[in-house]
Formats: sequence, structure tokens, C-alpha cells
Amino acid sequence: MNLQLLQTKGFASDNWSGVSPEVMEALQLANQLHHPSYGENDPMMQQAEKRFQEVFEADCKVFFVYNGTGANVLAVQHMLKSWQAVVAPHSAHLNEDEGGAPEKFTGGKILTVDCPDGKIRPDQVVPFLNSIGFQHHVQPKLISISQVTEMGTLYSLQEIKALTDYAHEHGMYLHMDGARIANAAVALDVSFSEMVSQTGVDVLSFGGTKNGLMFGEAVVFLKPELAEGFEYNRKQGMQLASKLRFITAQFLTYLEDDLWKRNATQANAMARLLADELQQIEGIKLSRAVEANGVFALMPEKLIPQLQKEYFFHIWNESQNEVRLMCSFDTTAEDVHGFVAAAKRLLK
Ligand SMILES: Cc1ncc(COP(=O)(O)O)c(C=O)c1O
Repeated sequence: MNLQLLQTKGFASDNWSGVSPEVMEALQLANQLHHPSYGENDPMMQQAEKRFQEVFEADCKVFFVYNGTGANVLAVQHMLKSWQAVVAPHSAHLNEDEGGAPEKFTGGKILTVDCPDGKIRPDQVVPFLNSIGFQHHVQPKLISISQVTEMGTLYSLQEIKALTDYAHEHGMYLHMDGARIANAAVALDVSFSEMVSQTGVDVLSFGGTKNGLMFGEAVVFLKPELAEGFEYNRKQGMQLASKLRFITAQFLTYLEDDLWKRNATQANAMARLLADELQQIEGIKLSRAVEANGVFALMPEKLIPQLQKEYFFHIWNESQNEVRLMCSFDTTAEDVHGFVAAAKRLLK
């Protein structure tokens, strides 16, 4: 078979990478004999939930789904009635990159806030409180944050706690979109328990695909009572995998021997290296703080298409020639140096 694969790795996104060898091995191991479908009476599913409970140091409920959009949409849908709303940064994946799926499946509204660094603060939620109890307005019930944010930035534990406290004081819940949660935990040097359970997050979309899994994410309810009926929502939402074992086996490997940590450490370190190297090139300027595995930079307009031919990446903001460079678990120093050398050569 002749597969038309790219010849360089590029920096388009952390889901352009392949699968960790350990995950591939787990998929092979899971591919034996027969095994219960849908996670029902499935010892592997029970083992996985137990592992999540250990990692989160909480009696959490775990539901595997296919993708991050599915995790976010179902988490939000489950927490809201159709007349309730989720408050989120305008830049949230939920708002900008899920094709209207949240609106379609929740029937509700996303109340957005402009957050230049991707992070929402409690005082930005205040104006929405005026609507509470007013029958003509949607009722804010959930705040959604992304950790890492879409701008590559991070909430500190204090910032997360301030938001969960604020949400709870006002009868709301907090959802975390953790598509890049491993990169965040590594960057902050904290455990998942410290970042999520101990800050009071209610429901989490736990990502895996962007850090070495083939596919699969998890919706984690930190308080089990909040999960009631979620299995029906997942089924109605078409995110119940019949051969669920292939997601479960990946997560078991991912959480074993700190694979998640090793992968995210590499991706974050390569982003740091890339940022340090790019900073030294005249004509290129970093445009945002580099806090996890994403680097945002301003580049001369002419350079962008030339460089993209050698190492593909996405333009983030066309009007400012701002690009986004994502590092993956398999990005190497050689990839970074190759990219930097190409930029220097093309700028001459
Ligand atoms: C912040 C964030 N949330 C969620 C997702 C999940 O998306 P998908 O449905 O493509 O798995 C992504 C992927 O780009 C993301 O960047």
C-alpha cells in the first residue's frame, strides 16, 4: 500500500501527530478474542474508572466518548436545561469551533465574553447575574473554561478556584474543557487532582487525542450525583462507542507509568525551545505568552506561505500575520531547528 504521507512533521496542530507507540501496543493488546461491547459489564471499563478515581482522588464518574466536541457538547447539554446558558470566552472551542453543535444539542445559548488572553474572570460573569430570575432572559447556569486556553495560556489554580467559588456562590457550575489538560498539568507542575478536584471543578472534558491517543476523550463528573442519566445523553448524542474497549485500553495505558506526563513534557519543552529560537530572529515576534505547547508569532506576510510549504502551520489572525505553531508529543529538537533554519533561510 502506498500512503501519501507528509515528509516533515510541521506545527499545524497537536492532532496532526500520530499515536504514541505505547497506545498502539494497547490497541493491539485489546484486539484479542471477544470483549463486552459498550462498556457494559466490562472489567476493563471498571478498571479505567478506578484509575481515573485514583488520579483525581475523587469518587468521579467517567464516560468515554469519541471526540472533544462530543465531550464538550454532552457535558454542557447534561448540565443545562434548554432555558439555561453557559458563559464562556468568545474564543472558546465550544463557541468558535464546534459548528453550532452546542446550540443544536443543548437548545440553549452561549453567553460570550471577550477575553484577550483566552481567560475569563469572575467579574466578567457579573453582568449576566442580572438575568437570574427574570423570565424573559436565559438563565446562566454554567461557566466553561479551557485549560490550556485556545490562546495557549493557563489558568493558575487560584484563578480556577476563584471561578468555581464564584459559580457555586451563584448557583452555577464550572465546566473545564481539558482538550490539553495534560499540557496544563505539566506546565503548572501539579496533579490532575490538584488542578481539577481540589479547585472544585464540576465537570471536565478530559482530552487524550492531542497528546498521543488515536481517538477518545472522557467526560468526568467530579461529583457522582451530577452524572445521573448521562449514559442516556451519551447514547442520544451518538457518542457511545460499541467497541468501547479500544478507547478504554488507550486511556489505561495513557494513565499508566505517566505516559500522559512524558508526552506533554516533550510537547511543552519543544514549544519553549521553538519560542526561544524564534525570538532571536529579526522580523519575527512572539505575540502571546508561551505557557504550554502552543507558540503564537507575528511573521512577515511574505514568509508565511513559503514556510508553510516546508512545515505546515495555521494562520491565527490574518490581519496581523499572526500564526499559531503547535508542538506535539513527537515534536523533536531536530524538527524545531529545521523549522527555524528554514525561516532564517527564507528571510534572507
Ligand atoms: C480547546 C479545544 N477543545 C476541544 C477540542 C476538541 O475537538 P475535536 O472535536 O476535534 O476532538 C479541541 C480541538 O481542536 C480544542 O482545541
